[in-house]
Amino acid sequence: ATIHDQKMHRGAGGELHQFAEDGMPVLTTAQGGPVSDDQNTLRLGARGPALIDDFHFREKIFHFDHERIPERVVHARGYGAHGYFETYESLAAYTRADLFQRPGEKTPAFVRFSTVAGSKGSFDLARDVRGFAVKLYTQQGNWDLVGNNIPVFFIQDAIKFPDVVHSVKPEPDRQFPQAQSAHDNFWDFISLTPESMHMIMWVMSDRAIPRSFRFMEGFGVHTFRFVNAADESTFVKFHWKPKLGLQSVAWNEAVKINGADPDFHRRDLWQSIQSGNFPEWELCVQLFDQDFADTFDFDVLDPTKIIPEEILPVKPVGRLVLNRMPENFFAETEQVAFMTQNVPPGIDFSNDPLLQGRNFSYLDTQLKRLGGPNFTHLPINAPKCPFHNFQQDGHMAMRNPVGRVNYQPNSWNQGPRESPVQGYRHFPAEEQGAKVRLRPESFADHYSQARQFYISQTPPEQRHIAAALTFELSKVETPVIRERMVSHLLNIDETLAGKVGHALGFKSMPKPADAAMPTRQDLEPSPALSIIER
Ligand code: HEM
Repeated sequence: ATIHDQKMHRGAGGELHQFAEDGMPVLTTAQGGPVSDDQNTLRLGARGPALIDDFHFREKIFHFDHERIPERVVHARGYGAHGYFETYESLAAYTRADLFQRPGEKTPAFVRFSTVAGSKGSFDLARDVRGFAVKLYTQQGNWDLVGNNIPVFFIQDAIKFPDVVHSVKPEPDRQFPQAQSAHDNFWDFISLTPESMHMIMWVMSDRAIPRSFRFMEGFGVHTFRFVNAADESTFVKFHWKPKLGLQSVAWNEAVKINGADPDFHRRDLWQSIQSGNFPEWELCVQLFDQDFADTFDFDVLDPTKIIPEEILPVKPVGRLVLNRMPENFFAETEQVAFMTQNVPPGIDFSNDPLLQGRNFSYLDTQLKRLGGPNFTHLPINAPKCPFHNFQQDGHMAMRNPVGRVNYQPNSWNQGPRESPVQGYRHFPAEEQGAKVRLRPESFADHYSQARQFYISQTPPEQRHIAAALTFELSKVETPVIRERMVSHLLNIDETLAGKVGHALGFKSMPKPADAAMPTRQDLEPSPALSIIER
């Protein structure tokens, strides 16, 4: 045998394995062609022009030029891990979802944690909401519980989502601040949006600077429905409780960590999982019916409200364990596509207007971000249960119908077929009403739960909230915005408002904000506020 022969051999299937002189596999093009020189382009003479014949160079540069995909329009910076969900006990009385039927049943999971406002390259310890998105690969299809580490949201209606996100992102002319809510546009929007006050109290609290992903809670936020085999519905709120408990850092620590190690949260998750120290959360539910919901002053369809755990304790129903990091960040964490509308039979939606808007939005954004309708063909997004349909073609199709039949009904006795018994049945809630654009009166109280949150905090935590509000509002250059914010704080807690007003150098306090729903008139900056002497 020649030296040449020793550098290649044929496998059992006839495939040719080729090795370089040092024994490593031979580099190939994406077409599989072996490459002889990856250091120099093909040129006419050593100092001459490059040649168009150089297909290897052309392909290599072409592929590099196309490496980037659009970053997520929100939650761009994130970090994910694989694991499993284990059911504690049968929830058959409440839901027919297969993953909740048998104690001990394990369902594969992928979780992506994220910040909301910053770009992909921003720092981990920003004062921000954290995304807590869970994909459960159930035997009845993927269930995505796309939550946050805060149980409420800024807005009550999805039509305001572009506004809240535009306001928090860098301003369109100057393109800063990069990953920071401390600026006029954000506080302008918030101060004109009283429904955001409960969320703002959480965002100004230590919850918004978690020590690590492992010490965060997660929340489904909205009221969902469980539906059992008899088609009976129970309302449900989802909570993830970290086994390690809740921990945050202090603001001055966050600022230093961001400078010294902007990847602090990533590193923490990577190191803990790689060292076998697997983080764990319990899935807990609050279960209730319409009669119970009717006993509240607030509306369970309003995503700016929680159901206090003192009134309705949470029930642990299973645990989530993260035990494996992705092999490739892009393939898994970047390409994972969460969508609130991914629910298995037995889990259904409520009429929460934010949830309904989300159900519409996520499919759209994945189509744009992942470049076509076949993003479910990516391994991270594909179901892990048997699945069959007649969808075909489109960019990057990895699966197509096999054989002649790609429709139903058909005379060729070929499946798949729909099943009213096994298939997803939407809960037949009875609805009626006029077609209107109207915020219900039951969504009108924007301050009570903000106050409850503030007074539930310990004195040091309350000081942190006052300090955060002072820091943030001190970056706001427009006096009327600061004053409008303090006028809202007066409706939440007078001492808090006083502290912040004093720290901002107010000579006198503004009047409390009108607690009623804002009208167009309220939105005009009040002349009385703007002439306060400072
Ligand atoms: C992304 C949560 C409201 C649109 C995300 C992600 C989370 C999340 C966790 C990141 C998913 C990932 O890690 O890949 C929430 C929560 C909300 C909320 C808890 C309110 C309770 C909304 C609303 C809309 C929306 C109202 C639009 C109407 C989006 C979009 C993305 C996103 C477009 C980017 C998805 C992607 O490119 O993968 N959201 N969101 N979200 N959300 Fe939301």
